Amino acid sequence: MSKFKAFLVTENENKDFQQDIVERNIDDLPIGELLVRVKYSSLNYKDALSSIGNKGVSRNFPHTPGIDAFGIVEICSAEDFKPGDQVLITGFDLGMNTSGGFGEYIRIPAKWAIKLPQNLTPTESMILGTAGLTAGLCIDKLIENGSKPENGKVIVTGATGGVGTLAVMILAKLGYHVVAVSGKKHAHEFLYGIGAKEIISRDEVSDNSSKPLLKGIYAACVDTVGGNILTTILKSMQYNGLVSICGLVQSPELHTSVFPFILRGISLFGIDSSECSLEWRKKVWQKLSEEWKPDHLESISKIIALEELPQEINKILKGEQIGRTVVKLSSEA
Ligand SMILES: NC(=O)c1ccc[n+]([C@@H]2O[C@H](COP(=O)([O-])OP(=O)(O)OC[C@H]3O[C@@H](n4cnc5c(N)ncnc54)[C@H](OP(=O)(O)O)[C@@H]3O)[C@@H](O)[C@H]2O)c1
Repeated sequence: MSKFKAFLVTENENKDFQQDIVERNIDDLPIGELLVRVKYSSLNYKDALSSIGNKGVSRNFPHTPGIDAFGIVEICSAEDFKPGDQVLITGFDLGMNTSGGFGEYIRIPAKWAIKLPQNLTPTESMILGTAGLTAGLCIDKLIENGSKPENGKVIVTGATGGVGTLAVMILAKLGYHVVAVSGKKHAHEFLYGIGAKEIISRDEVSDNSSKPLLKGIYAACVDTVGGNILTTILKSMQYNGLVSICGLVQSPELHTSVFPFILRGISLFGIDSSECSLEWRKKVWQKLSEEWKPDHLESISKIIALEELPQEINKILKGEQIGRTVVKLSSEA
């Protein structure tokens, strides 16, 4: 079979971007050691940006997005894998400038893939996907630097989004008192259901005073939004507070002063899931499949077909995402 079905984003002569489901040819995929038949992918914020032609994510069009993929190796010229292996790919250049998981086939360097951890099903691996790996990396960084549930409250922003939901679930499972920041009043039941102990609105964590420090409330933070919410949280950390940051849905800007750092000794950790080392990635996937694995992962996800992507992309761009969206590539998956 040399043809496969894929979601394709095309730039037309007016510089508008169009999304279609098309037939593509396997021969048009880039060279690589592994040809993988994709069974599931998932929708992340970055995929939505790529799908509307954001050149910071994908420079060249036509393009098939999809930064996550689970599938079966069909052809392999690398020692570590063989045909039939179940593999998981998140990040690197997949779905950015390399044809991604929103197509039934991908061809990639072997070092981008890991074998599916034993305790995860294919769908669970994509419910987690880049969002789960990122939440896991953020939390691992906090723990490596001494974070413990008894140190105090941990605040999670963008709490109903992909990374946020999984961060809340993992932290709650580990016994942390999680304060969820959410703009969705209708999602409070959902957030309590996944383990949040308190829910606050975005306004409650958006300080517009010029005060260099606010009352120290939080021992740790997983931030997915950036902007003034992050600025406010930095001012609201307890002494020796730990902050992992990964996202920019509110803003990529960060206006702060040195005071939270030099008067309260707080630490700020930047997290990048797409290029982080294979060793760290494997460690966190192992934890995600064992002691950190959230219970009832399926309760935070829905499964869609390629044809349903456009409406889901609109939703994520409008900040309306709740939980995770898994994309099923073929009917027999
Ligand atoms: N560094 C990395 O390796 C890495 C990996 C994955 C994702 N990311 C980044 O992390 C961020 C979250 O990704 P995601 O996939 O979880 O996205 P997502 O599913 O769309 O979730 C984002 C959540 O942020 C909140 N939000 C939306 N607009 C907002 C605004 N204007 N101000 C404040 N909060 C807002 C919403 O939650 P509430 O309604 O509950 O507030 C929304 O559900 C993105 O910026 C993404 O690019 C980075």
